[in-house]
Amino acid sequence: MDARLVRAVAPPEGDDFAACLAEGLSRSLKEIPCKFFYDQQGSHLFDAICALPEYYQTRTELGLLHRHAREIAALIGPGAEIVEFGAGSLTKVRILLDALQGPAAYTPLDISGDYLGGVVRTLAADYPALAMRPLVADFTMPLAIPPLPGAPRRAGFFPGSTIGNFRPETADCLLRRMRASLNGGGLLVGVDLVKDPRRLHAAYNDSAGITAAFNKNLLARANRELDAGFDLDGFAHYAPYNSAAHRIEMYLVSLKRQSVEFAGRRFDFVQGEPIHTEDSHKYTIEAFRELAARAGFRPRAVWTDEERLFSLHWLEN
Ligand code: AVJ
Repeated sequence: MDARLVRAVAPPEGDDFAACLAEGLSRSLKEIPCKFFYDQQGSHLFDAICALPEYYQTRTELGLLHRHAREIAALIGPGAEIVEFGAGSLTKVRILLDALQGPAAYTPLDISGDYLGGVVRTLAADYPALAMRPLVADFTMPLAIPPLPGAPRRAGFFPGSTIGNFRPETADCLLRRMRASLNGGGLLVGVDLVKDPRRLHAAYNDSAGITAAFNKNLLARANRELDAGFDLDGFAHYAPYNSAAHRIEMYLVSLKRQSVEFAGRRFDFVQGEPIHTEDSHKYTIEAFRELAARAGFRPRAVWTDEERLFSLHWLEN
């Protein structure tokens, strides 16, 4: 089947970078929603993060997928439609696709249409027999995924600990909505684990400065798309671990008193003022299973590596 890019729904509310940026920078505690990291350049920067020596997450999760692919494929069952939430580079799903028995279709959802279009073409070339239905969509917004012809059973795939970007008190609502969209199918979720804070700190403060560039891409994107005048050297990447809340917090800190204009408005920063750009929550295996249960899933199998860095959870609907 030909890979065709379709717009899932009209651009949802909350999809508008200019409006969300202006709103977030008007708050007393400034913030930019982390989904805006992922324009085409940000998606490529994220791929570079995944290859960093300090960023153990991607390597560890790929290892778990390889090691348990057959067992996972048996749990998903034959003839399934795989729905991936926040699909990114489509690297991880290849391991599943290679192990699955006659998958019916692959439906990757991603917020960056430019980026998704490119990676889908590559995947389609490598899997010519697989029906592919890329959807340019923000999975944090309510979304109905129309059934495919023959309504194959679904399984969800939500790797990369993307769930960690949501506050635990809202993450259950998101999982509940995913559960509803899977029509009874299960969900395979990757979750980063609580560990030595030094290890976590290194993963978000890499020596090559890629995470800093990824963080600053929010401002670079505003300069590109909104003709904003952010001085990229006037902000610093700051990513401490909040051990009480079990999360890495990312900020861009203004290094001086400065003002930036876009969309006909002016935004003032005092020296040392932070813009909150991301939370990345870490879970224990037990805490994540409880979260999944609050969302109405039945947590079943869980896999982890010897160092207990990362976990993969199979949740039944
Ligand atoms: C999108 C959840 C995989 O929180 O680790 C990586 C994004 N931010 N480095 C994470 C991220 C900074 C990331 N995930």
